[in-house]
Amino acid sequence: MNYKKALHHPIFEIVSQTAKELNLEAYVIGGFVRDYILQRGSAKDIDIVTVGDGIKLAKQVSKKLPNKPKVQVFKTYGTAMLKFDDAEIEFVGARKESYDENSRNPSVESGSLVDDQNRRDFTINALALNLDKDKFGDLLDPFNGIQDLEKKIIRTPLNPDITYSDDPLRMLRAIRFATQLGFKIENESLKAIERNNNRIKIITKERIVVELNKILESSKPSTGFLLLERTGLLNHILPELTALKGIDEVEGQRHKDNFYHTLEVVDNIAKNTDNLWLRWAALLHDIGKAPTKKFHKKIGWTFHGHEFEGSKMVYRLFKRLRLPLNDKMKFVQKMVFMSSRPIALANEEVTDSAVRRLIFDAGDYVDDLMTLCEADITTKNPKKFKKYHNNFKIVREKIVEVEERDHVRNFQPPISGEEIMETFNLQPSREIGIIKDTIKEAILEGDIPNEYEAAYQLMLKEGKRLGLKVIKVQSNKDS
Ligand code: CTP
Repeated sequence: MNYKKALHHPIFEIVSQTAKELNLEAYVIGGFVRDYILQRGSAKDIDIVTVGDGIKLAKQVSKKLPNKPKVQVFKTYGTAMLKFDDAEIEFVGARKESYDENSRNPSVESGSLVDDQNRRDFTINALALNLDKDKFGDLLDPFNGIQDLEKKIIRTPLNPDITYSDDPLRMLRAIRFATQLGFKIENESLKAIERNNNRIKIITKERIVVELNKILESSKPSTGFLLLERTGLLNHILPELTALKGIDEVEGQRHKDNFYHTLEVVDNIAKNTDNLWLRWAALLHDIGKAPTKKFHKKIGWTFHGHEFEGSKMVYRLFKRLRLPLNDKMKFVQKMVFMSSRPIALANEEVTDSAVRRLIFDAGDYVDDLMTLCEADITTKNPKKFKKYHNNFKIVREKIVEVEERDHVRNFQPPISGEEIMETFNLQPSREIGIIKDTIKEAILEGDIPNEYEAAYQLMLKEGKRLGLKVIKVQSNKDS
């Protein structure tokens, strides 16, 4: 088969010529070929493999390119990279590899194209196209990768025990590709992942997170998490999630399986947002349920305080996985902490003051919180399903209405602490806090509007109640 059509990017012609001059064989291999055949858009990462010195080829290619781009050389791996147009092109000499037991770093020996294809992760990633002038675009597919693409199968070129233990990250890559592409992992491979799952320990957290993020970013993340669970990998990576598995029954009372529920929530939210961190929040929104679960004779199962516990766990989990401990983490914590608020609200009649409090507490994240809570509706009872969604629709409308009127989203108190101090001639003291709180509460309850004059009057009233004397009258009324 010939795939000349895939090679319209000018770089291929240049590599072809240069390889010829250097008397080398060159091929394009891996994700570029796979994604072309799957019609997943043209990949910007192009991997060139050459039988011989890849670094030399890269340097020579660069000389022929209009802007003579810089060649970045990675000596230990024998690879070189350059950027041209919108593409990143990586050059590597074909090699045989054997891996060290305790690290992913291979010891390298040069080899033939087939040796190189053999040491790749999956048959669908081992497809190569010839860049030789006379065979330009000819497919080299020694392991029936094309057939696996058609049948949607993830399979390793070698015995899977060897492929996975050579580089355990590939276990995660198998699951990630299965999730992204909607492929099945071939049975022997799946069993090998199960057998080798504890080898994931030698992989850095950063690389694990790259794969987890890709699973979360796919259109149906549950596929990946179910596979991670089934192969035992999840327990090594996210034990907080496996702890949610199972249904307990005491005196005929059962609770739902929070692991499968969580996966439904993640799939639901994937339909409504591409925000990776909101997807993380969906994945972690119930993790506090495992440590807070209790059975009470009268009321059955409870998970009191699971939102608070969960938000504390988010910090530990992010730290362990070397996820960013910045505003992204705080966002996920906030979502987890507030995850039950809209549900509680939609259960009753939706009052303005409850909505105001929700906006006040969630701030700019109120819409994300609503998206999370809508995804959290996984009831199989169609009546309840409809009722909750309708209530949330009302909550969303009320949020807009209340926000337009009361502006509490980024609440700034209409009366400052300084003005309270000046009015009553106070030194910093608890009275100031009491007055500020009274004003805030009255605004959130809807007893007074979020305006200066009303707040000023309430300050006077509260000051009087506290036995304070007015020393200075309305200095900055118009401010
Ligand atoms: N590869 C491998 N084992 C790994 C990583 C990569 O064998 N642990 C090989 C595969 O042949 C892969 C190629 O190196 O196709 C390039 O790797 P990479 O750029 O990480 O992945 P892609 O397959 O291009 O896919 P994606 O861009 O979606 O990650």
